[in-house]
Amino acid sequence: MQFETVGVVGCGLMGHGIAQVAAAAGQKRVVVVESDAAALERGVQRIEQSLGKLAQKAVEKGAMDPDSARTHVADSMARITPSLARKDLAACDLVVEAIVEDLQAKCALWRDLHAVCPPRTVFASNTSSFPIAAMAGSSGRPERTIGLHFFNPVQLMGLVEVVRTPDTAPEVHAAALAFARACGKEPVTCADTPGFIVNRLLVPYLVQALLMFERGDASKEDIDTAMRLGCGHPMGPITLADYVGLDTTLSILEGWCQRHPQEPAFVVPASLRAKVQDGKLGRKTGEGFYRWEGDKRQ
Ligand code: 3HC
Repeated sequence: MQFETVGVVGCGLMGHGIAQVAAAAGQKRVVVVESDAAALERGVQRIEQSLGKLAQKAVEKGAMDPDSARTHVADSMARITPSLARKDLAACDLVVEAIVEDLQAKCALWRDLHAVCPPRTVFASNTSSFPIAAMAGSSGRPERTIGLHFFNPVQLMGLVEVVRTPDTAPEVHAAALAFARACGKEPVTCADTPGFIVNRLLVPYLVQALLMFERGDASKEDIDTAMRLGCGHPMGPITLADYVGLDTTLSILEGWCQRHPQEPAFVVPASLRAKVQDGKLGRKTGEGFYRWEGDKRQ
């Protein structure tokens, strides 16, 4: 089994990155579907800008000459077919969903796509917090349903978690690993458990940093500096929570607290809830625990 035509549903923060790395890796065709025309246009522009930036860096480093950089950007863009219609996913070997983190919306999408796509199409979710098995029933093809969890920013982060349920067929798992590698990522395999590997470790760590800040044990700047310089992390935990999105972090935690009330690591810090209530969602709104100018913390 090999994926040549890939569909991506959702062209937001994660979806545009997934479509970009798939197209840049030379997938034959990448169909990107959004329900909103303005969001689709923004996502496609973001892909073009990011490809341009990465190509420019490759030229500066001497890894590409300017002509091949221009050709690489143009060829990658030419492989992408933006669309507002789910029916355009009918010819895909693989569809990756990166829509809103809402289980009902994801299940409804898979029900729709089961009617659109042939039985051979593999369905993959980029969910960061929902069980893949909870979607497998709606997909109508549990043996062809899998998790493909990319990391933000997709263009720069080297990992993909491949999440299999007891129903996922071995050849689907193998093809998903090969797809992640083809996108230039290192895949790891995980069972269908809360948060898989990364978020199961990362989110409780972010929580502990916020609780430490709330108690006044240290300033947010010092907590971040400590983890950057003491542990060599590229970003401290409170900066990272802003970077990931405080709404995203809260929604992951709320879902886990509801589904796993017995797990002591899953708690919601009051400061996180308050920021989200104030609409301060981190980098994406220009303010969270810190102020942001685009991708840069102020
Ligand atoms: N496309 C192209 N270029 C990009 C880019 C993108 N999407 N995003 C950033 N860049 C560029 C920047 O513009 C910058 O270019 P410049 O040097 O010309 O200014 C360059 O990459 C380096 O970026 P920065 O200067 O901002 O700084 P860093 O060296 O710190 O690199 C980082 C940025 C790779 C994001 C690094 O800080 C990092 O690894 N941070 C941790 C991120 C992380 O942990 N992500 C995982 C979050 S968890 C998750 O995603 C799971 C989810 O389910 C919640």
